[in-house]
Amino acid sequence: MILAAGKGVRMRSPVAKVLHPLGGRPMVRLLLDGLARFSDMRAVCVVGHDREAVKAALPPGVATVVQWPPRGTGDAVRVARSKFSSADVLVVMPGDAPLVTPETLRKVLDHHRREKALATVLTAVPDDPADYGRVVQYADGSVRRIVEAVDADPETLQIRRINTGIYAFDPKALLSVIGQLRTSNKKGEFYLTDTIELLSQRGRVAALNVENAEEAAGINDQADLSRMEGVLQKRLRRKLLENGVQMPHPQSVYLEPEVRVSGGARLLPGTHLCGRTVVASGAVIGPDAFVVDSKIGVGVKIWYSVVEHSVVCDNATVGPFAHLRPKTRIEKNARVGNFVEIKSSRLGRGARALHLAYLGDAQVGEDANIGAGTITCNFDGYKKHPTIVASGAFIGSNTSLVAPVSVGAGAFVGAGSVITKNVPAGSLALTRAPQVVRSGWAKRRRALMTTKTKRPRRPAGER
Ligand code: UD1
Ligand code: CA
Repeated sequence: MILAAGKGVRMRSPVAKVLHPLGGRPMVRLLLDGLARFSDMRAVCVVGHDREAVKAALPPGVATVVQWPPRGTGDAVRVARSKFSSADVLVVMPGDAPLVTPETLRKVLDHHRREKALATVLTAVPDDPADYGRVVQYADGSVRRIVEAVDADPETLQIRRINTGIYAFDPKALLSVIGQLRTSNKKGEFYLTDTIELLSQRGRVAALNVENAEEAAGINDQADLSRMEGVLQKRLRRKLLENGVQMPHPQSVYLEPEVRVSGGARLLPGTHLCGRTVVASGAVIGPDAFVVDSKIGVGVKIWYSVVEHSVVCDNATVGPFAHLRPKTRIEKNARVGNFVEIKSSRLGRGARALHLAYLGDAQVGEDANIGAGTITCNFDGYKKHPTIVASGAFIGSNTSLVAPVSVGAGAFVGAGSVITKNVPAGSLALTRAPQVVRSGWAKRRRALMTTKTKRPRRPAGER
């Protein structure tokens, strides 16, 4: 069960805390995606603040229970009791500690079963116990109770072992005590942590300590959020480095959890790989590249560029300063250069668009050349229209291709043309006005202009 009903006032944000992104997606989504591998568990999320938006952020198939108003973590679990009353174990997790690993969760479950405990608390010993609940233990290590920092006396605050907010419960035992919770505490809430003392009076409450405290850290404010983003990034980069991805300056590389990069690829400083991007071996991305939901082939080079929802095939190059917008496909060995924007288009094998061009809704054939300053006029103000440039065609610089239009295989278009009619294969199309040359014109012009604009001399002494 994921508790995600709180507003998270310390975030000082208009949206609920659990919707804040980590690794590019709402933290509650990141948490639940990580749990997907527990096929024997059914996820239930308790929602309250911003509940429609939180529901929309959840993976499909996650049940929700509304807790309104949110009156504490104990109340959240009580509200959702019908969802777990017949389960054999209940795992409770806060929605604001999303980086706990499935391995750790598995250990909690194993420990809980082995200890035959009524509850098992995942604890941690962070450098700074801050405002986490303190775990009071019996001499044998089992848990006696949990005291919230705000309610703790100075002696209890000295305890360094804290409650991560992640627990396994025996559902029946929990249900037998949850009605006894009271709000007589500093926050005036029903604390789930108070069930621990009630349970420890009836049986064993086990503790399992997580080795790496930062894995289970909670997010309560923006500083926590950015710290946890750092933890996630380090984790994602380490995985790639272990797989043989080269990263000379890993601190400046930003990754998202579903990104896949093959060993032998090189990620240079300032590279952002987002969404479901896949990068093949030998590709060099960066410096300074933003790639989202795209497929990057073997040996591709992308630098100082933005690539969205596109495919760049083997050994093609993109950049510097190019923008591939959604549904673009750059075929093998094609080259996209400086200040080129491409949208919903295909650039054929070995084709080139190297300088200052816009290609929208275009199909460009093999080895075609798109000259500097070429644009497809694909939008007539109402509709988008296609442009076809067949293989081997040569489009001269500063051409406007007014769609729908096609240029046949091997045809030439003269520089500066505005092409409004189809150009047959093998032909030359030229629409610019013939050049006029008037020899000596410049001198005559200057003479004329200087006589016309000569001003009368000012009288002496006047300024
Ligand atoms: C809680 C624990 C604390 C622990 C810490 C770990 C309690 C009383 N305290 O404190 O011992 O050290 O987590 O991070 O449980 N929520 C609801 N409904 C509510 C209140 C909260 O669903 O009525 C959700 C929140 O959205 C949040 C989670 O429960 O995702 C934890 O709530 P939060 O207020 O952040 O608890 P902490 O004060 O951090
Ligand atoms: Ca918290």
